Amino acid sequence: CGIVGYIGHREAVPVLLEGLHRLEYRGYDSAGLAVPHRGRLRVTKTQGRVQDLRDRADAEGARLRGNVGIAHTRWATHGEPSDVNAHPHTDGSGRIAVVHNGIVENAEELRADLTAEGVEFVSDTDTEAIAHLVAAALDGAETLEDAVRTALYRVEGTYGLLVLDARRPDELVVARNGSPIVLGVGDGEMFVASDVAALVHHTQRVVFLDDGELATVRAGEFRTSTLGLEARRTDKIPTTIDMAAEDYALGGYPDFMRKEMAEQPDAVRRALRGRLDERFATAHLGGLNMDARELRGISKVVFLGCGSAYYAGQLGAQLVEELARIPATAEPASEFRYRNPVVDPDALYVAISQSGETLDTLAAVQELQRKGGRVIGAVNVVGSAIARECGAGVFLHAGPEVSVASTKALTNMTVSFAMLALLLGRVRDLSAASGEHIVNGLRALPDAIDAVLAADEDIADIASQFAKARSMFFIGRVRAWPVAREGAQKLKEISYIHAEAYQGSELKHGPLALIDPEMPSIVLVPGDELLAKNITTIEQIKARGGPVIAVTNTDLPDGLADAVIRVPAVCAELDPIILTIPLQLLAYHTAMALGRDVDKPRNLAKSVTVE
Ligand code: G6P
Repeated sequence: CGIVGYIGHREAVPVLLEGLHRLEYRGYDSAGLAVPHRGRLRVTKTQGRVQDLRDRADAEGARLRGNVGIAHTRWATHGEPSDVNAHPHTDGSGRIAVVHNGIVENAEELRADLTAEGVEFVSDTDTEAIAHLVAAALDGAETLEDAVRTALYRVEGTYGLLVLDARRPDELVVARNGSPIVLGVGDGEMFVASDVAALVHHTQRVVFLDDGELATVRAGEFRTSTLGLEARRTDKIPTTIDMAAEDYALGGYPDFMRKEMAEQPDAVRRALRGRLDERFATAHLGGLNMDARELRGISKVVFLGCGSAYYAGQLGAQLVEELARIPATAEPASEFRYRNPVVDPDALYVAISQSGETLDTLAAVQELQRKGGRVIGAVNVVGSAIARECGAGVFLHAGPEVSVASTKALTNMTVSFAMLALLLGRVRDLSAASGEHIVNGLRALPDAIDAVLAADEDIADIASQFAKARSMFFIGRVRAWPVAREGAQKLKEISYIHAEAYQGSELKHGPLALIDPEMPSIVLVPGDELLAKNITTIEQIKARGGPVIAVTNTDLPDGLADAVIRVPAVCAELDPIILTIPLQLLAYHTAMALGRDVDKPRNLAKSVTVE
């Protein structure tokens, strides 16, 4: 979900709508805003996209004028998307408005208590309780900040929160516990957002709130302190972020997914910059803060992430086992945190996250730290919760990623893991010659990705031939197995075609029963030692009448597959990184052929800061 707030000298509503528009990738079920007017709130909200809210706000015109306001775009957790469930939520008197990201864990209990006190709830959301709690706490509180502090004392759960009191239109109060809040410091104006994307085109001077922090924000100043009843000033100093507004603009591309796919060669160059060492055929990852002895002491590597980050972790585990011969696995962070894992003090845990805010991944990090695990981050967003919690790791340097479906961040995750695997290998058993081979392979990646991107039209053509399928298989083995899983995920996410990944070796143990002329299979065929096996897999599918799209980096027998997507070969260990790229294009063009909104697939959000 996305939060935006403004206080200053401009008309607030256009600033809020613009900010929401830039945050829409974080959630887009419903949107709303609130402004104060003579001691009362004026609230406009609607199910649907930010554009729908803009239409409503336009229709209301002068009613919504003023220089302060708060706004939200929502990804529904508690309560279906609807007008009443959209944020902001207000207390019964129409004085306090709240926008909230996160989840109130004791919402039911609070609702029952407040109802017993005579409060009437109008929505099904957990957030509404906060508005009522703040309103109740105003009695006896000197400041809005005090009231928010008192209210939050009763709230269990996670929040990034922004509160407006219509009777105090010269200030806003924000609080953070597990869900990001950033302040943008302007000239006589202040911005509030859940993500810098909403403010970089206004200011690059920002303050990231820490968990357990609260702030009062006025047009020309802000004051931060700790949450809890015994407040302590925290005196934060603004930092300057080196992100430009253009990073969040389409720059001539039709959508962000297309733009971000095209940016991959440059993104990989950034990830590699200064990290490859030709002389000793290794990689330098200074952010790990580990010397060779510590690196040698690692007994196993466990990659943790959600969604695409988890599949990147599977690729990472494969690379670590192959290059460093250290046992390595990947697991969804969302499962890991709940299964009471045995935490090995000699293992290296890698928390993977583009946003650095995914709640499940953050919780896995915290669980590991409680149990004495050594955990590093592989994170794209500098200053994010996971990056800060880990304190050490590898930044991905992919640049801002806006499209819900991850492309360049995912690629940079895999490139970073290849460097980690190389480094771990070179302090152990990997020969200088093998190290050199990987360094050269890494250097060749950007051009190889460019070559895949150049095949765009051919892939679009293939996509349009198969877009009418109801379901597809993605087949890959060993190195290409995580690639198949990620390919299936991409197709599902953005085209809504059902897809399932399978190992070619396992087809005959069940899923072959599903093969018929209506069920296309995308078969990954790297030119490695499994080439002959993968060719046999294609023959098995063809023999049952199943259409096959082969994705390969080598020559295949003529007529073997119905369509072939050919990509360059770099080196066997790194080829899986290249093989993910045509699957992005395939998913993209399939989604386009079906008229989908690729950047904002239904029911999803880019950054899931709830459980
Ligand atoms: C969401 C997104 C996925 C993403 C996952 C992890 O589910 O829809 O595309 O892979 O979160 O996000 P992260 O920011 O932690 O990489």
